[in-house]
Amino acid sequence: MCGIVGYIGKNDSIKPVIEGLSRLEYRGYDSAGISYKESSDIITLKKEGKLDNLKSEIKKHNINSKIAIGHTRWATHGEVNDVNAHPHQNELFAIVHNGIIENADRIKSELSSKYSYKSQTDTENFLNLLTSKYEKLNDVRSAVLETFKEIEGNSAFVVMCKLTNKLWAIKRSAPLVCGIDAATRDLYISSDPYALVGFANKIYFPQNEVLCECDPSKVNDEIQFFELDGSASHRYELQKKDLNLNVSEKGIYEHYMLKEIHEQPTLIKSLVDYYTTGEGLESLKSIDNKFKRVHIAACGTALHAGYLVKNFLEKENKVPVQIDFASEFRYRNPLLSSDELGVFISQSGETADTLACQELCSESKLKTLSIVNVEGSTLFRDCNYNLLIKAGVEIGVASTKAFTQQVLVGLILSKYLKNELNNDDFKNELSSLSSKVNEVLDRKDEIKQIANEIYNKNGFIFTGRGDHYPIALEGALKLKEIAYVHAEGYAAGELKHGPISLIDENMVNIALVTPDLFDKTFSNAQEVKARKGIMVIVGTENNEQLSNIADYYFGLDYSGLSSTKPVLTNVVLQLLSYYIAKLKGTDIDKPRNLAKSVTVE
Ligand code: G6P
Repeated sequence: MCGIVGYIGKNDSIKPVIEGLSRLEYRGYDSAGISYKESSDIITLKKEGKLDNLKSEIKKHNINSKIAIGHTRWATHGEVNDVNAHPHQNELFAIVHNGIIENADRIKSELSSKYSYKSQTDTENFLNLLTSKYEKLNDVRSAVLETFKEIEGNSAFVVMCKLTNKLWAIKRSAPLVCGIDAATRDLYISSDPYALVGFANKIYFPQNEVLCECDPSKVNDEIQFFELDGSASHRYELQKKDLNLNVSEKGIYEHYMLKEIHEQPTLIKSLVDYYTTGEGLESLKSIDNKFKRVHIAACGTALHAGYLVKNFLEKENKVPVQIDFASEFRYRNPLLSSDELGVFISQSGETADTLACQELCSESKLKTLSIVNVEGSTLFRDCNYNLLIKAGVEIGVASTKAFTQQVLVGLILSKYLKNELNNDDFKNELSSLSSKVNEVLDRKDEIKQIANEIYNKNGFIFTGRGDHYPIALEGALKLKEIAYVHAEGYAAGELKHGPISLIDENMVNIALVTPDLFDKTFSNAQEVKARKGIMVIVGTENNEQLSNIADYYFGLDYSGLSSTKPVLTNVVLQLLSYYIAKLKGTDIDKPRNLAKSVTVE
């Protein structure tokens, strides 16, 4: 979703801000803008559409500036256009904002007679309120604090003022970091530490409602923190060790998604080492395992991984597990007890609904555990225990490698709790999984061929049973995310309770018929075939029953795989979605309307 980058220092401010914004492009956005200070003027340039539009606009200006703030906007209030893009500026201030101001209408009704509103955004309310506070207080720091006190909802803001060479940043339940390059003393602000890699080598994570004031004139004390009452604050964390945030390049691949799919065999292998010998083992050991029940909450692909984690914990560890969409869990008044464990699965560690669930569990005195990719993310910092999925930076909006790693970390947790993590059978299974994923990647032309045959059909129903039901959900989600076609994931046994009425010669059923519950799933596939549906079967290899009813058949060798079969099947579906989307000509890595990190509810 929206991205923020700010710079203040001795050098050109445009380059790091634009570089930071391009690193945040993967999060999803629909317009971009920048405000910079030149002499004592603030100039704002902003453009609807891709960052390239803004870059072209910047090229028309001969800019000499040492202070800038930039923003990529994912529209919430007001349509996508240049005016609604951030930053928002008036005679005194320029600001950027991530999040939603929930009392925007009330503020506007109080201020609109005196201050003008140019856009349809909620953000301008902060700008006008800030101006009104400044007129009374005549001090920017106090004005920002007083303004923020009156803002309801979860947001992050960065403020630039025409009258001083400083930047201010403050947030409530929205990601925000600031950093410094220890050598040059240049200062940076961002909504994501990834934007600061290679620029700042000391990164601070302020807590909620702590103001960061960046002032390069304060030698050795350039970033200061303040509480809402104006007193000095110590509620921030300094990054303790190097964050594992290498900048990712596409390399030989046409898209990040394809590259990330191909990274999976190697990641699977290194995950085993990490959890059996490395730091990962220490993180498993830190978990107090005396919980009576588990609550899992997550969103999107991470939730699908959660369904498998639930199956592992219930089947293998006999622990009851509740699982919910994070957006539902937080409002359904779940029955929580302090002898239970909250488990939150997230690639980014910044998904607003998932964070709210973690908070809810913490308030009810549950211990909380994250299965998370981004070390140092809010979820990572807020949970009692963290199991990193070690997927590296995932840029494709449609999550692939993170799903695989989330499922495997859930399985590793389950094995650890059963004292079976170091069993050779388990290690061999993961090593075999890695090789089998490689084999699927080597057969990608077969998958491309199937995509060629079906990409222009009306709709797609993915079906599976048991551990393959979550894979049916995930396969359908992937396809709709990137190919913009109607796709549904269904438990195969549920088909006859409604969706079977959709089956005709233009409807594709992607049936996952695998060794587990084979006969049952096979009969469901026959029911579809009898109604002339187009049958794509992904599952048990070399099976005559399957080849007889399949229009297209992709067989998999599941030998040696037990709980990890669904991970292998899912790689086929990742590639199938990828090739269908490619044939449709969509923007695969940044699909329309989607965001990688959903920081609003
Ligand atoms: C967005 C992304 C999905 C992701 C979901 C949860 O919708 O587009 O790919 O699965 O958020 O994100 P998280 O970072 O919490 O895993």
